[in-house]
Amino acid sequence: MTRAVIVGSGTEIAPNRVTNDMLARIMDTTDDWIRERSGVVTRYFVDPGTAPSDLGVAAARKALEHAAVAPEEIDLVVFATMTPDHYFPGCGSILQAKLGLRTVPCFDIRQQCTGFLYGLELADAHVRAGLAKTVLLVGAEVHSGFMPWTEAHFEHMYGRSPIPPTPEERAWNTRFRHLTVLFGDAGAAVVLKASEDGRGLLDHTLHADGADYQKLYVPGTGFRHRPYTDPAQFARGDHIPVMDGRYVFKMATSRMIEASQEILKRNGASVDDVAMVLMHQANMRINEYCQKVLGFPDAKVVHNIDRYGNTTAATIPLLWDECARDGRIKPGDLVLMVAFGAGMTWGATLAPA
Ligand code: ACO
Repeated sequence: MTRAVIVGSGTEIAPNRVTNDMLARIMDTTDDWIRERSGVVTRYFVDPGTAPSDLGVAAARKALEHAAVAPEEIDLVVFATMTPDHYFPGCGSILQAKLGLRTVPCFDIRQQCTGFLYGLELADAHVRAGLAKTVLLVGAEVHSGFMPWTEAHFEHMYGRSPIPPTPEERAWNTRFRHLTVLFGDAGAAVVLKASEDGRGLLDHTLHADGADYQKLYVPGTGFRHRPYTDPAQFARGDHIPVMDGRYVFKMATSRMIEASQEILKRNGASVDDVAMVLMHQANMRINEYCQKVLGFPDAKVVHNIDRYGNTTAATIPLLWDECARDGRIKPGDLVLMVAFGAGMTWGATLAPA
């Protein structure tokens, strides 16, 4: 059977590096708390005006070059993001135009931290069905737009302005600290081609359960409200995600373990058969727990949450790109990718590199 194989990857990291101590300039938090509870040490934010599609386009250009694929060869685009440039249209067609691609179909995926894995299955299904031969799959996020603080606070955090937040503003920023310290901005992309040598993505398992979606969601700025956005929503902070961290932590560990065990069992694969595990990077403690239960040795599990924080749909392709470029993933290696995110959504993919 013809299957999709990842033939190239690329990453674009936002330019402004922010340490935990820099965040402590504008809210009540500490480097120790953030490191211990989440594993995040730094994250990167874009300058105002940079859109998720810009990060996606830059990452896609690098992926095309890495794959030695010309833009005109792309016959399907899949763009995963939970922070789109606009309410509509989606980022897929914006990226198509910016890259000068042919007028190919462009899908937008909204499965948050599981978005890249949903996109992988969609890309693979199109290839298996003979509907596409060369797919560009992008995950990109500008989480800094969710941050509750003002541009003046960004400037103070970067050390470019001496003016700190007022006590009231600092209290407002602190209200969201359990969430805001976790996220960073990035884009990452992979190019997939129909395999002609029997290689390719082996299997996918995807799940969703919306029963508890309000444990992690954005309460305001949606069409459940009329008008869909108004100053009262902003005053309440309803444009900023709500997250029940403990609930999400528990669900993420159990669902990522279940999905990993499900896909390994279905394919008769053991921990020994897997060369590398790429887990979504939401919290280092979640991943350490999953690794321990699944029984993977340290050498087979990669992390980059310390450098980038949670980059949602960009996380797994970012990990893939780092490992593919530095040789930690070699052609033929069996790679397990697993993720959990808002929705709630979760899944896993087994991919020979
Ligand atoms: N700095 C200092 N103190 C803080 C911070 C902070 N940044 N954030 C919270 N605290 C305080 C709280 O106020 C609380 O103080 P109290 O005991 O005096 O009331 C204390 O720390 C404990 O707070 P919790 O929120 O219970 O802390 P917890 O240990 O659960 O860690 C965290 C919070 C890091 C968010 C964790 O629950 C987590 O990572 N959850 C999962 C996140 C996740 O996986 N998200 C899914 C992906 S995102 C997506 O799909 C979009």
